[in-house]
Amino acid sequence: MSVATIAREGNIAVVTVDNPPVNALSQAVRQGLVDAVAELDNDQDVAAVVLACAGRTFIAGADVSEFDKPPQPPHLPDVVSAIELAAKPWIAAIHGSALGGGFEVALGCRFRLATADASVGLPEVTLGIVPGAGGTVRTVRLAGIASAVDLVTTGKPVRGPRALELGLVDRIVEGDLRTAAIAFARDTLSHPLPQPLSQRPAPTVTDTFFTETEAAIAKRARGEVAPLKALACLRRATETDFAAAMQFERATFLELRASEQASALRHVFFAERAAPRPAALSGVQTLPLRNAAVVGGGTMGAGIAAALRDAGLPVILIERDDAAVARGIANLKDIFAGAVKRGRLTEAAAEARLAGVTGSTDYAALADTDLVIEAVFEELSVKRQVFEQLGRVCRPDAVLATNTSYLDPRAIAEGLPNPGRFIGLHFFSPANVMKLLEIVPTPQTGDQTQATGFALARMLGKVPVRAGICEGFIGNRILKRYRAEAEALVRQGVPIAAVDAAMRAYGFAMGPFEAQDLGGLDIAFLQREGARAAGQDVPETLGDIMVRAGRKGQKTGGGWYDYQAGDRRPLGSEEVARLLRPLIQPGPALDAEAIAAHLVGAMAREGEAILGQGIAEKASDIDLVEIHGYGFPRWRGGPMFQAAKSAGSLS
Ligand code: 3HC
Repeated sequence: MSVATIAREGNIAVVTVDNPPVNALSQAVRQGLVDAVAELDNDQDVAAVVLACAGRTFIAGADVSEFDKPPQPPHLPDVVSAIELAAKPWIAAIHGSALGGGFEVALGCRFRLATADASVGLPEVTLGIVPGAGGTVRTVRLAGIASAVDLVTTGKPVRGPRALELGLVDRIVEGDLRTAAIAFARDTLSHPLPQPLSQRPAPTVTDTFFTETEAAIAKRARGEVAPLKALACLRRATETDFAAAMQFERATFLELRASEQASALRHVFFAERAAPRPAALSGVQTLPLRNAAVVGGGTMGAGIAAALRDAGLPVILIERDDAAVARGIANLKDIFAGAVKRGRLTEAAAEARLAGVTGSTDYAALADTDLVIEAVFEELSVKRQVFEQLGRVCRPDAVLATNTSYLDPRAIAEGLPNPGRFIGLHFFSPANVMKLLEIVPTPQTGDQTQATGFALARMLGKVPVRAGICEGFIGNRILKRYRAEAEALVRQGVPIAAVDAAMRAYGFAMGPFEAQDLGGLDIAFLQREGARAAGQDVPETLGDIMVRAGRKGQKTGGGWYDYQAGDRRPLGSEEVARLLRPLIQPGPALDAEAIAAHLVGAMAREGEAILGQGIAEKASDIDLVEIHGYGFPRWRGGPMFQAAKSAGSLS
């Protein structure tokens, strides 16, 4: 079956691209479009052409799975050019998403119509590349430099109405898109046509604009190459003629397409798409998720409740007394107020979110709740009491979840009636922001419950990863190893600040020591102390020495570093140096790259052990955990990707 078919409605031809699932521009689609231009140019009866797509979306971009192979003709810039210079005007009818190459094809059309819920954009930088078929060169000519910089260097798509405001589309269509596009096409025939974008002048832009924008992007990109390269393409698009700018953009695209960063980002792209739908659960029916409840209104519970509200679910918040309910609701209020302050929510929307939360001290309120997530204090007996109550009042098919970080979910579920509906859902703080959700089934958890956990993740816009049961599951177990290895480096004489600086240079927002100072050293310390009290052999860590000296992090004015009151800047500490001096046995000097390689290598080795024990199903899941839960730079692909690269098992 052809991927690009032609239908005729009087003197208007409708070319429909049909290449499921997202109409990506495979070689066959590119060829189909070039053939359609040739055929319709030669058809005397056709006066204009509507380009539409079958299925859920307009063309969502180049076919990313082709990026590991040499480019095959016809090349996309030639396809876009053929459409743009066709004898008959082409009109793009956009529904769903017109992204990357898809938007570039639309830019080759004389007009762009879109439904209100459609989005358009150039997300190439998120794949470590730049637009490769005129995206930078035509967008500056269509919408000016400021919009083009925004669109191309962030990669963020914009929705229909905003796209109209920016001039990226010509009209928002209500009702049937195809019918409206045909009517529009007929109407255009009675007016003069606008110039093709390639023949329009580029805007004049000052040097200062580029210097300032470059500095801002460099700061934000933190080692990521594509955004600055995209800016360079935009600059070239305003400084040379169309053909030279196209050549520069294409060369940059091809160079980046073969780069390590692009290969890492493609790995993450496909890992993210595979994660929400594990093969083992395919075809398993999910349970209804019409409403939810959270037990515990602390930071974690309130964050989870906010995430559930953001997804539109009515939420009951259970606490043990009225004062705690009030505190929980106040926490939620703060979260929504923060979203208003950052411009993410309107006042009215924030009020509606809050109005959808019912606080209660009475478990009986949960009699008809589909999903309950427990987020109380991390202590087994407290959690068990909660589940004892839930077991009594909830429907037998309600999903009951624990948000534990370290406890064994099997112990939490002990004695629960219908243990098949019990599951661990490990959120990351702040739970309404962080994308990672570790889904931790017990051996008794039913498939339907697991599938419902994944469905919940999709609903909340989270990246779900299935984790087996062990101390710390996937993420915190690797974190522990990472911190231990960082301490080992300090014991070998590597300065604390050098370790942090190396990890920042690698792409983390913070190094391991400054991150602990921010979060507090005491939680992990108490946990180690608990294990010691339970008779486990937990050797003394440098972190223990810090906490015993009263250095719990920023909140106590010092941890691994000193801090001046009201200032979060870490300062080297005489006291820390004195405390650690007796423990340091100098080893070989390591530069920043060697430090990062050592620590990332240690993460990957822990990951290997996790895989070997079946705690994670695939290496790419571990990469997602690190990227979405622990700040691993996305463009490095994750520790497992890095290890495979070093071992030469990836091209
Ligand atoms: N190439 C190849 N496969 C793609 C693809 C692409 N561009 N976009 C999506 N897919 C695949 C996914 O891998 C997934 O496959 P699976 O079913 O086997 O897991 C399937 O299509 C469905 O994808 P999603 O689960 O993401 O579907 P959604 O409906 O949730 O989202 C979408 C649809 C918004 C279009 C989303 O898929 C998306 O954002 N895609 C990527 C768009 C993109 O980055 N385009 C730019 C590509 S680079 C480019 O065009 C270069 C050019 O300038 C030369």
